Amino acid sequence: MVKESSKRAILIVGIALAIVFGLLLVAVSFQGVSSLISSEPASSPNHSPQREHQVDAPKGDYSSTGVDRGEAMFGELGCVACHTDADTPVAPTLHGIYGKAIKLADGGTVTVDDDYLHESIKEPGAKLVEGYSNIMPKSYGVDLSEDQIRDLIVYVKSLK
Ligand code: HEC
Repeated sequence: MVKESSKRAILIVGIALAIVFGLLLVAVSFQGVSSLISSEPASSPNHSPQREHQVDAPKGDYSSTGVDRGEAMFGELGCVACHTDADTPVAPTLHGIYGKAIKLADGGTVTVDDDYLHESIKEPGAKLVEGYSNIMPKSYGVDLSEDQIRDLIVYVKSLK
């Protein structure tokens, strides 16, 4: 009898220890996994808007794509004065427009692709977005080189 119950006690202690160690192991590996996830490069497809800002963290790495140059021009040329991260009475946002169907003032629709973005910068009045006036400067189409327009397009496409 005595032997039997002490055996059971040892068994219970053993199981309890196993559970504690098991939980510890799970906690440690979970931390490992989540730190792996948070140190993942920002280019992962489902990144939150907050992480999106980190896209620019490793500056030089992205320069070859033109996103950095495009972003700099977007500020310097004053695009940012009209185009913010949400639609305003002044201008539509450029965030998340790539691939979307945009309603035009003439009743038509257009799917935003590279050609449309090119035309929108080169010839802003060619296709007016519904609800907006033809106030975007025409000067960009004259002053900017093809490379500069390309960098702006790359930047606009990066705006999620
Ligand atoms: C004075 C305000 C203003 C400035 C500055 C401006 N835009 Fe615009 N932009 C607009 C307005 C208004 C529209 C919508 C009417 C239209 O289609 O022209 C527009 C439309 C666009 C579109 C098409 C958007 C869509 O949803 O179809 C793109 C792309 C664009 N602008 C890029 C730029 C870039 C790049 C710059 C800087 C080089 C710039 N804009 C500067 C006012 C502005």
